[in-house]
Amino acid sequence: MEEMHTIQWFPGHMTKTKRKIEAQLKLIDAVAVLLDARIPYASCNPDLRSIINNKPRLVVLNKCDMAEAAETRRWIAKLKEQGVTAIALDCKTGSGLKNFVPAVKTVLADKIQAWQAKGMKGRTIKVMVVGIPNVGKSSFINRLAGQSRAKVEDRPGVTRGNQWFTVGKGFDLLDTPGVLWPKFDDKAVGEKLAYIGSVKDDVLDTEHLAGRLLEYLRDHFPQALCERYKLVPEDIAAAQGYTILEQIGKNRGMLVAGGAIHTERAAMTVLDEFRSATLGRMTLDRVEACHAFKI
Ligand code: G4P
Repeated sequence: MEEMHTIQWFPGHMTKTKRKIEAQLKLIDAVAVLLDARIPYASCNPDLRSIINNKPRLVVLNKCDMAEAAETRRWIAKLKEQGVTAIALDCKTGSGLKNFVPAVKTVLADKIQAWQAKGMKGRTIKVMVVGIPNVGKSSFINRLAGQSRAKVEDRPGVTRGNQWFTVGKGFDLLDTPGVLWPKFDDKAVGEKLAYIGSVKDDVLDTEHLAGRLLEYLRDHFPQALCERYKLVPEDIAAAQGYTILEQIGKNRGMLVAGGAIHTERAAMTVLDEFRSATLGRMTLDRVEACHAFKI
């Protein structure tokens, strides 16, 4: 899929972000890494580990309303095996959000104990939120900071413009000072990001993308695909994505004047329905296929 892995890749940008994050690390206690629960591997910035170094971290699997619950639990267990605390939540409804602050406190338990021993009882906990574009960072911060979104005033030594938000008494969030890009140069990663809509469609060929998605769904979620679009499994077993797309357009009566199939409309329908989980909750990055994943 040529269009996908040639998407703007800004190494210069990344270096700048890396430097900015590194400069802020000394001001924060922990990092909240937001990942998309449908694609925990593909939605992770490839340089994240080296950027945040040894900072205590908490993984937040966001958009869990659209991922398979059992698979999300497996991801949380896998991360736990690696010594990383992870929680699942959904910023659309706010479900699971109440677990965030307690989870951060668990991650920082030793530190908090040490502060208390030094008499720093009410010390504010400061957490940096990181994640690739579209993972739900703004929704997450808005949800947590709510009405009291008041920005904490610039602190000494902090570059002006850093976005601090107060979540509650003694708990501040720092929005990432820069943009963390996903691993666009890995074709499989780029495709998954495009499927879920994390890459702007205007840089992609919609029909081509929908065709690739249909082949993917045929290979990984055949039942949901066939049920939704009234397809016969044997008919699509060896079919090209475009042929499946035409079949869907035909089944849905999507025709243009003259009787040809309106494949562009069919493509938009397939993409929209997949992205809104109308086809069902689907986790594209399976734990067992992501052995190398480490955060
Ligand atoms: P960002 O700051 O990381 O770039 O992401 P942002 O919060 O803008 O969220 C990107 C999109 O994902 C938004 O949808 C947002 O509503 C949606 N979103 C965020 N968290 C969740 C979640 O937990 N579940 C679901 N289902 N969706 C979530 P949008 O279509 O771009 O905007 P809008 O329709 O909300 O206006």
